[in-house]
Amino acid sequence: MAKDPGRVLIFDTTLRDGEQSPGASLNLEEKLAIAQQLARLGVDVIEAGFPFASQGDFAAVNRIAEQVGGGKGPIICGLARASTKDIKACADAIEPALNKRIHTFIATSDIHLKHKLRKSRKEVMAIVPEMVGYAKSLVEDVEFSCEDAGRSDPEFLYEVIELAINAGANTINIPDTVGYTTPSEFGELISKINKNVPNINEAILSVHGHNDLGLAVANFLEAVKSGARQLECTVNGIGERAGNAALEELVMGLHVRRSYFNPFFGREAESPTPLTAVRTEEITKTSRLVSNLTGMVVQPNKAIVGANAFAHESGIHQDGVLKNRLTYEIVDAQTVGLTDNRISLGKLSGRSAVRARLEELGYDLNREDLNEAFSRFKDLADRKRDITDRDLEAIVSEQVQQPESRFQLRLVQVSCGNSLKPTATVTLADQNGQDRTIAAVGTGPVDAVCSALNSLAEVENELIEFSVKSVTEGIDAMGEVTIRLRKNGKLFSGHSADTDVVVAAANAFVNALNRLVAADQNTSIHPQKDPLSTNFKEGI
Ligand code: KIV
Ligand code: ZN
Repeated sequence: MAKDPGRVLIFDTTLRDGEQSPGASLNLEEKLAIAQQLARLGVDVIEAGFPFASQGDFAAVNRIAEQVGGGKGPIICGLARASTKDIKACADAIEPALNKRIHTFIATSDIHLKHKLRKSRKEVMAIVPEMVGYAKSLVEDVEFSCEDAGRSDPEFLYEVIELAINAGANTINIPDTVGYTTPSEFGELISKINKNVPNINEAILSVHGHNDLGLAVANFLEAVKSGARQLECTVNGIGERAGNAALEELVMGLHVRRSYFNPFFGREAESPTPLTAVRTEEITKTSRLVSNLTGMVVQPNKAIVGANAFAHESGIHQDGVLKNRLTYEIVDAQTVGLTDNRISLGKLSGRSAVRARLEELGYDLNREDLNEAFSRFKDLADRKRDITDRDLEAIVSEQVQQPESRFQLRLVQVSCGNSLKPTATVTLADQNGQDRTIAAVGTGPVDAVCSALNSLAEVENELIEFSVKSVTEGIDAMGEVTIRLRKNGKLFSGHSADTDVVVAAANAFVNALNRLVAADQNTSIHPQKDPLSTNFKEGI
């Protein structure tokens, strides 16, 4: 059996695999804010990015290693393809962290070997020990992944894993890269690896999986029963295509059904010791932060973090829940930090009261950021009677999006109605602080605003998604707008919240434009899709 840490280690890859979701790209400040929240959530490992991808990716991993990788914080990990250049860049980026890990990988399925790597099994078997050994010469903690393990020949997998462990890999990760396997197959694969790899007891077995058939979480839970002790997952399940296994579903599955899983850890069924180190009360906040910053809206019926996850609509259910919550609820909303605390602050409240509430919510802002948050709070308090924690979160997450802005919205003004042509006047400042104003008409006020912004920005794009939802209930609720723009097949999201949805739309549009422009200037390579051949030649 593989090494057993006695509980499940949560390896969060929101900032690496999650960020590979179309349109989910994050700037450095946003990545840092998410990493800080992941540390509060209590994940064991943060995969902070793919440092070789670009200077921007390197800098983000480096900053996270520096600011989140200290003391008793999580292990900071970087991804590297099995090449010396990738591995060296990764080691340099994670260097400031106290606990650091290099995660290197190579594909093992015949389909990837033939069509992507154009390498033989023999060549892969030469690369693995050499690159794992190289990573091990740079850091103590090395993880090795067999990409597309779910479709690889198990006999070949056993050999590759044995080589990786002999070369120093502490963790062996088994990815179902294309979300192809079923729970019983995946569980069986983990059992067989445990049985057939002679040195498997020297490493921790980890799983990674995508949700193409909606089975990622079920696959992981089956793998846990077979001895997997690290789960690679993302907040809200974001990631390539249908996404990755969702962190909140895994953690709550193991929490709510602890007595079912305990025996697989050699514990008494009723043992109260948690199976993960995650602070479940931080889940809702983490989910909202990731959704706000990535612009990846959470579907209302999403397990654990969807807006309807704890809502009871039918009379029979409501009646049952009022009599005894357990009739229709298996998770107490407070366990995942879902509270509707209305802060007793209004427009007359002072800075220190706002700061105290923000601190309780886990936002430790510096002086400058606090000043800005306070002025936004005051502005909101003028327009909205009750301010909830969600409103405060919306204010703070929007602030994080500000750096690296090329355009800034200075003014937006619309006139519309049933007998008026919707017209918007917009003032936009460019990166030199130069203001320009223009007016435009549209089919509706938002269309008019976007049209005016496009004329000023002069950046080619296509608007492909516009969604509005309210942050809280009530007529004075803030509206959250998410906008997705497309350029050359790539997606860019923008997000903003305001009591005026037209203002929120304008800010979200400018935010998406800023991401698009930043991406044009910072071309990243994709760790799994970019051809490796030249890199490998240089690497070995
Ligand atoms: O899906 C996958 O195989 C991956 C690896 C790089 C671990 O993301
Ligand atoms: Zn993946």
